[in-house]
Amino acid sequence: MTAPVSFKPELIAALRDARLIAALTGAGISAESGIATFRDAQDGLWARFDPRELATPEAFARNPKRVWDWYAWRRERVAAARPNPGHYALAELEGRASEFALITQNVDGLHQRAGSRNVIELHGNIARVKCSREGTCVERWETRGEEVPRCPSCGALLRPDVVWFEELLPADALAKAEDAARRCDVLLVVGTSAEVYPAAALPSAASAAGAIVVEVNPNSTPLSHSADYLFSGAAGVVLPALLERLRV
Ligand code: OAD
Repeated sequence: MTAPVSFKPELIAALRDARLIAALTGAGISAESGIATFRDAQDGLWARFDPRELATPEAFARNPKRVWDWYAWRRERVAAARPNPGHYALAELEGRASEFALITQNVDGLHQRAGSRNVIELHGNIARVKCSREGTCVERWETRGEEVPRCPSCGALLRPDVVWFEELLPADALAKAEDAARRCDVLLVVGTSAEVYPAAALPSAASAAGAIVVEVNPNSTPLSHSADYLFSGAAGVVLPALLERLRV
């Protein structure tokens, strides 16, 4: 049986009084929805697949079909998944907060499907497809046999609207995330290994600006030693318990 999670009254008070609560999420929050994380040693995506062959501009230039098919497979997995109690708890927290910013590295759209509204997507969204030349999003495309579909306006190959290694993050999303990190009173860091920059720099930016940093992760990360509060458990257990505590 899982031990009940207990929260210090100071943390509950800080959440109740906060003008801005921010959350930074990573693949771990979607693990309980059946979406694989990246760095888990057994079943993480990067333990089973080589990111250099699938998630870089060079990989796409070398073998666009392999990259397209891999993202199409992941897109199907995401479409079949459902938000879990961790996603719903963050959506409910947004409803209770004066201002709330949900910064996510995830491309699965599960926060939005759980009802979160102010979602800042740092790494794009796997459901969207864009032109590899112009960067414009494309709603409809034709598939000819086994070929990677092409942009209806310019004929270049289409690609997923996600950030690959060696690519810059969308500037507006990064600016909003950095602003929220600087202004927030509490930052919840949930289900991220805190290894991929620039997202991994947000907790220290928040902390330097005076925010309380709370980590929720069953495993330790480079952030764990400096977090103000550390909850070593699954997001789908800790976050609903936190909401329960805020309700009373
Ligand atoms: P990682 O796979 O690096 O880390 C997932 C984290 O979630 C780990 O620290 C786990 O311990 C934790 N975790 C696992 N199950 C959990 C649960 N039920 N509740 C809470 N935490 C749990 O994923 P990210 O940190 O998101 O980038 O990875 C960052 C980026 O690296 C991704 O956005 C992706 C990847 O390469 C791109 O594709 C650009």
